[in-house]
Amino acid sequence: MEKILITGGAGYIGSHTAVALVNAGYQPIIIDNFSNSDKSVLNGLRNILGEEVPYYDGDCNDADLMKKIFTENALTGVIHFAAYKAVGESVAQPLKYYKNNVGSLLLLIETMQSFGVKSLVFSSSCTVYGQPDQLPVREDTPRKLAESPYGNTKKICEDILSDVTRSKLGLKIISLRYFNPIGAHESAEIGELPLGVPANLVPFVTQTGAGIRKELTVYGDDYATPDGTCIRDYIHVMDLADAHVKSIEYLKDKPVDFFDLFNVGRGKGNTVMEVIKSFEKVSGKSLNYKIGARRPGDVEKVWADTTKISEKLKWNPQYNLEDALRDSWRWQLSLPL
Ligand code: WQD
Repeated sequence: MEKILITGGAGYIGSHTAVALVNAGYQPIIIDNFSNSDKSVLNGLRNILGEEVPYYDGDCNDADLMKKIFTENALTGVIHFAAYKAVGESVAQPLKYYKNNVGSLLLLIETMQSFGVKSLVFSSSCTVYGQPDQLPVREDTPRKLAESPYGNTKKICEDILSDVTRSKLGLKIISLRYFNPIGAHESAEIGELPLGVPANLVPFVTQTGAGIRKELTVYGDDYATPDGTCIRDYIHVMDLADAHVKSIEYLKDKPVDFFDLFNVGRGKGNTVMEVIKSFEKVSGKSLNYKIGARRPGDVEKVWADTTKISEKLKWNPQYNLEDALRDSWRWQLSLPL
């Protein structure tokens, strides 16, 4: 059975990708320092899969640990999720973000090279586009100046990967530019576990629905959109997980020094108010919210053109916004208050 290393594999997207990999006949191996995830995720994975997912508790900036993992496991590929991703925190602590997000990629590339592991799927973000000049956004849409050190680490990492390819270091690489991942596995055994007060919309919505938060603040309703609130492309995390499996499969017959990148979104935009209304429909609850000031750094509207990933990876989203919110809500209800 082919072994795939998932860095940050106990995280939100990493854990769902572990499920998708097992379902596709692969053996995931997790490395996670649990700085932004919880070991209970491993129990959730066992309950879903009926088997333990092997894991290493440690940091992918730890060269000795990475060497140990690559020595103990004959890997056929790596999916690199591990990174800090809080936009606001990255502004306050830029060096923490550059050291971790860029440093871990550099060490991973060196380790892959020395062990002859060639296939790499990198977790990037639509944040590299900033506010696109045309919508839906395509992969050849020019990247904009990053709004935050977090966003800049994603751009820098993509540049490193294309330079590694151009210098023919012998890897074959796909970068996936995520839009807004939401939802949870249908079993409610795993899902998004934000630490502290959620920065992202959907976990804040479900926590408000569950009474954990008093009310949601909608960050601005004076944008040039149908209802004045920002538009995003919300993609179910299981659809996103499937895109990683299809990327691993797509790389199999590619030559070394191959590099490509794909948008991964649903290909449809929804406003904040549409998310609220859809949540109220699936939960049967009236959501307590108020309109507040715009959040600095927010782009007005962004959603993906998914033509390229659909044609090349034969990937298409299977879930819509309601499906994702239903699964997020089921997951929220499974958590202790
Ligand atoms: C979505 C919309 C907010 C919270 C960020 C990162 C991106 C990626 C996903 C890592 C916006 C509005 C939100 C709230 C609100 N992260 N909102 N009230 O900002 O599109 O993307 O998370 O890869 O890189 O930038 O996601 O969920 O924070 O916001 O009105 O309490 O919801 O203004 O319009 P965002 P988000």
